[in-house]
Amino acid sequence: MKNVLVTGGAGYIGSHACKALKLAGYNPVTFDNLITGWADAVRFGPFEQGDILDAARLDDVFARWQPVAVMHFAALSQVGEAMQEPGRYWRSNLVASLTLIEAAVRAGCLNFVFSSTCAVYGDRDGVVIDENTAQAPINAYGASKRAIEDVLRNFGHAYGLRSIIFRYFNVAGADPTGELSERHLPETHLIPILLEVAKGQRDHVKIFGSDYATPDGTCIRDYIHVADLVDAHLLGLRWLEDGRGSNVFCLGSGHGYSVRQVVEEARNIVGHPIPVVMADRRLGDAASLVCGSQHALQELGWAPQRSLLPIMIEDAWRAMR
Ligand code: UFG
Repeated sequence: MKNVLVTGGAGYIGSHACKALKLAGYNPVTFDNLITGWADAVRFGPFEQGDILDAARLDDVFARWQPVAVMHFAALSQVGEAMQEPGRYWRSNLVASLTLIEAAVRAGCLNFVFSSTCAVYGDRDGVVIDENTAQAPINAYGASKRAIEDVLRNFGHAYGLRSIIFRYFNVAGADPTGELSERHLPETHLIPILLEVAKGQRDHVKIFGSDYATPDGTCIRDYIHVADLVDAHLLGLRWLEDGRGSNVFCLGSGHGYSVRQVVEEARNIVGHPIPVVMADRRLGDAASLVCGSQHALQELGWAPQRSLLPIMIEDAWRAMR
């Protein structure tokens, strides 16, 4: 069985990727420091606890497992936090990723799948974003991810590292069987927060800003089901294994939903009034982020199956209950 090193494999997206890798016949080796991940989410392969800032530990793990590829999910990923603590974001994202990329090259593991983000684009004023859209991040999260993309390109030229960069839009939903769920502590993401209100764990949800230049004044996001996202990762891994070289793909559904629309859909699905309180804008938020995924559809043959808002909320709700 081929080993794949999965950093952040104990986290939300990483654990879903491990399950998909296992089902596809790979052995996912999770590498995670458990700061934001969950040990009980590591169920599909071996677990190596460690921090990707620790080069010696990474060298050990690469030598032990000799992975055919790295899938690099480990990161800090909250826009609000990135505005308040930029240094943490540069260190945990850029410095740690550089340490990992150097270790991969030292070990001769030259296939690298990287979780980037639509936050590399900043605020694009309502245009549909694709791989050719100019990057202009407005927070340390997006800026640190863009810098890692540059590192991957430089290491491609210097050492033959082959990378697939996926720029995720808003990942949502959960494993349709309910085996895995989205868990963050504290939770900051819109859909899990709405479901926590429905479960009685919170009184209300705050809507961050109702004066954006969007039809209903709230931010528009493109939500993509985590199961579709990890399918793209398997296609990206095969692309690299087939020697097709480095590439960049945006992953989204192509549909934008406002915060109010997401709240309304959640109310319909869970049958709970989900009270809202209007609040100030959250620093670092773009007004609208909607993806054009033609490149992934055409080149990877990727076809999202579950990235419809009601399905994503239903799957998240089932997993949460
Ligand atoms: N929102 C609220 N109230 C909340 C939580 C969120 O109104 O309690 C709003 C946000 O302001 C935003 C939208 O709902 O407009 C979605 O917010 P999330 O926190 O769910 O997601 P983000 O768009 O901030 O972040 C996501 C990923 C990041 C990624 C980013 C790109 O979590 O990793 O998209 O902008 F980088």
